[in-house]
Amino acid sequence: MRLLSETHPLVTGVTSDAPLVRALRGDRPERVPVWFMRQAGRSLPEYRALRQETRMLDACLDPALASEITLQPVRRHGVDAAVFFSDIVVPLLLAGVEVDLVAGKGPVFAHPVRTAADVEHCRATYTPERLREALEPVREAVRLTVAELGETPLVGFAGAPFTLAAYLVEGGPSREHLRARTLMQSEPEVWHDLLEWVADLSAVFLEAQVEAGASAVQLFDSWAGSLSVNDYREYVAPASARALSLVRQLGFHHPGWHGYADVALQVPVIHFAVGSGHLLEALAELGPDAVGVDWRIPLDEASERLGSEMPLQGNLDPALLGAPDEALEAHLADVLTRGQHAPAHILNLGHGVPPETDPAVLTRIVELAHAF
Ligand code: CP3
Repeated sequence: MRLLSETHPLVTGVTSDAPLVRALRGDRPERVPVWFMRQAGRSLPEYRALRQETRMLDACLDPALASEITLQPVRRHGVDAAVFFSDIVVPLLLAGVEVDLVAGKGPVFAHPVRTAADVEHCRATYTPERLREALEPVREAVRLTVAELGETPLVGFAGAPFTLAAYLVEGGPSREHLRARTLMQSEPEVWHDLLEWVADLSAVFLEAQVEAGASAVQLFDSWAGSLSVNDYREYVAPASARALSLVRQLGFHHPGWHGYADVALQVPVIHFAVGSGHLLEALAELGPDAVGVDWRIPLDEASERLGSEMPLQGNLDPALLGAPDEALEAHLADVLTRGQHAPAHILNLGHGVPPETDPAVLTRIVELAHAF
């Protein structure tokens, strides 16, 4: 294990017993920790005001701006974690890949990656070393953020290799990721090389966020739900494990409980995929500290399938954020109650905050959950 720096908040103890971090150790803190995927973003008027003149990817690379945007939802909602303001394509961009984020559309790549020659070119050109050298704005944004957050942990993240590959092969968003899935089946070796390359970039991106001060990370596999379990295990899971391999080596000492000697702990990892009810066991096999569950499967059922041993995160249905108070409150109580079947529960949505969400609804959910 490689130890985090002496000033890291998990090492100084500032965040090592925060409700989120405790829940990720399988513990049940006094109050259920709450954060929301995409809590920093368009649902907040203060975000829209700041972003007015800045393109998304420019905002991600402006440390002061990225840090301020990361902090906005923490101040407003009193959530138990910040999620770093960035995007899954940022490591590709910093490694040199030509990519843009088009509002209302998605990531658009100037050159789709489809052939053995394309993949070879990417591996040789957009290297992890090149990414490492370009990551200073990300490290700086994390340092600025962590300095302001105090006891609230920062969650770093990266896109999982399949999700990134689905965009790269297509050149942009697609519904069923057919091109990517066809490549996987027809040229497994090219596919393997492609996933290994993106996994290494995601690994370096995660490592930089943790070294600069993030107290946990989440691997987002937005599109893994389009895969069968067998294909996920064979063609995708090894690359996701590889994306987590660098942070899995980072750790810190924690004072032992009840007089036991101190213990060496890994930096906690959350693994989340959308539409992944059928993949739950396969996601858990990668050995994360918690599995993120989307809204399609109840938490008690998810917990039982995982042997009642895996901390779970989730799984409010984002559609309920726009529903009448009574419906939302009943749904929240149901999610919190079912979440008690797992060894630990982190309340979150089953996918990101929709941009049209009334932010007062999110604040209310935090208050109700903390009082539950
Ligand atoms: O919880 C988090 O904030 C985690 C980080 C995260 C973001 N985007 C932050 C973000 C993750 C995992 C993503 C994934 C992502 N990014 C996807 C996959 C689908 C999904 O929702 O999981 C896609 C398609 C993108 C691309 C993207 N990101 C576009 C097209 C845009 C809009 C561009 C613009 O000009 O605003 C974004 C913006 C983005 N990504 C925001 C955040 C917090 C800010 C604005 C928003 O609320 O959408």
